[in-house]
Amino acid sequence: MPDPQLVLAARVQDALSAAFGPSYADADPVIRPSQFADLQANVALPLAKKLGRKPRDVADEIVKHLDTAGVVADVQVSGPGFINLTLSDDWIAGEAQRALRDDRLGVPATGAPQKVVVEYSSPNVAKEMHVGHLRTTIVGDAIARILEFLGHHVVRDNHVGDWGTPFGMLIEHLLDLGEDAAARGDSSVSDLTAFYQAARAKFDGDEEFADRSRRRVVALQAGDPETLRLWNVLVDVSKKYFNHVYGLLGVTLTDDDIKGESFYNDLLAPTVQELEDKGIAVISDGALCAFPPGFTGREGEPLPVIIRKSDGGYNYSTTDLATIRYRVDTEHVDRMVYIVGTPQSLHFQMVFAVARMAGWLGDEVSAEHAQIGNVLGTDGKILRTRAGGTVKLAELLDEAVERAGAVYDEVQHDESFDDATRAAIVRDVGIGAVKYADLSVARDSEYVFDFDRMISFNGKTGPYLQYAAARIRSIFRKGGLAPDEAAGPIVLTEPAERALALQLLGFGAALEQAGATAEPHRLASYVYAVADAYTTFHENCPVLKAPDEATKASRLALCAVTLRTLTTGLHLLGVPTPERM
Ligand code: ARG
Repeated sequence: MPDPQLVLAARVQDALSAAFGPSYADADPVIRPSQFADLQANVALPLAKKLGRKPRDVADEIVKHLDTAGVVADVQVSGPGFINLTLSDDWIAGEAQRALRDDRLGVPATGAPQKVVVEYSSPNVAKEMHVGHLRTTIVGDAIARILEFLGHHVVRDNHVGDWGTPFGMLIEHLLDLGEDAAARGDSSVSDLTAFYQAARAKFDGDEEFADRSRRRVVALQAGDPETLRLWNVLVDVSKKYFNHVYGLLGVTLTDDDIKGESFYNDLLAPTVQELEDKGIAVISDGALCAFPPGFTGREGEPLPVIIRKSDGGYNYSTTDLATIRYRVDTEHVDRMVYIVGTPQSLHFQMVFAVARMAGWLGDEVSAEHAQIGNVLGTDGKILRTRAGGTVKLAELLDEAVERAGAVYDEVQHDESFDDATRAAIVRDVGIGAVKYADLSVARDSEYVFDFDRMISFNGKTGPYLQYAAARIRSIFRKGGLAPDEAAGPIVLTEPAERALALQLLGFGAALEQAGATAEPHRLASYVYAVADAYTTFHENCPVLKAPDEATKASRLALCAVTLRTLTTGLHLLGVPTPERM
């Protein structure tokens, strides 16, 4: 589906080269939304400066050479030299009709597919997932789905924190409790926060335990089979818990996507060796460090990335460097997108810089930290439970579903469903509300977790969008035909029909932008704009009671494209759309 903006940009570029010579064929035509037309080309102003001519004359010249055939219905030069462009109704209708007939709604798969690692969720083993992980999980899953739809080869990568010194004390604590406690699903093990804190307390207070724990770390790193087996018991308890949360959320991650820190353990030494061989890693204060250029501390002193601690141990940065090296050398990726909290920004900047020094990241491979802002409570502080503790994700989601039930029962009066159907709808509403709220905000800004605002059937919310889709489905049910039976032809006469159709043509561009920037909020906003255009259409243009059969057929077709755009868009965001509500 050609985005109107791109189609007009191409036409204006052709006019530019016809009027001023072929060197202008790639000039930016500066297409912007316009108050007075569908779009505006503002290129005449900068160009006039360059040519030393009056902007209005330059605009007139462009218009004289503009090929309007089939696409543009009206061109006006206004103000100092803005070119206002109005698209032809027939062109819009024709493109909407093409979308109706196409499986992919007219969005082409990319001609330049990339292998993209989308690294997201990445919780820590033997620790509760927190709201920060909720956000990286939801946003990352949307990015993965969007890039996949665009035709890229997406590798989902869950970089769980499953390695390091804490595992010594965790394993010893497990032995103290008895392994069968884990097998029984005893809460002393399955309540991860309590388990971790109990191990920590013993480590701090009991010298004998601390000694055992340290010996256990050495055994783990040496690959002692019995220690590895115990470590696996812990990893499995956590995996079960992660999968429970992923299931509640409807996230596409599976066990196969887990490539935790432990996976890179054997690659740490060769990675460090290569950095030493290349003269990038040097000893400083007993530790092996790299000093990427441009990173300095408060006093202007160069900042290190510590690659091997003075006690000989490797750390988080070493693992991230080994990961990049592996992805480039072994997985041959073109792009890596890290969906991780904003507080780790400096870490990633410095790690990427070291990887560039080592030659692992060049111009052909891009590494991006897709930053995730903090989740705040309604009091504006980091989200906590009333008792001040960390919010448990599974409980938070259960509460969302419960609250969605109350709101739903209040607004829902058209249909009555049996208990199971109602429960399924309410689950979709609650989870959809949380996910959409998260996705509709730019991922790098903080966002306030507010149940009342997100679970509302009005405003920019998940439930509003789900309801818009359900409302269209109910029109088809009442009309006695399936959405894919609507054939058109689409004819645009009412302004609300035209506005809706024009909005529908922007799907490809919204996806493209969301994928290129790894910013799902661009798609979230687009889907909302579609629902909004549909609401205006719904209020002004009767469908089943249209004045004549041709109008009815056209409006049903518009409804069908709208429904598919909404459900596809929401699906790519990971927001479910119930059949009925
Ligand atoms: N496990 C880390 C945490 O919970 C996030 C890991 C992010 N990914 C990475 N490659 N460092 O904070």
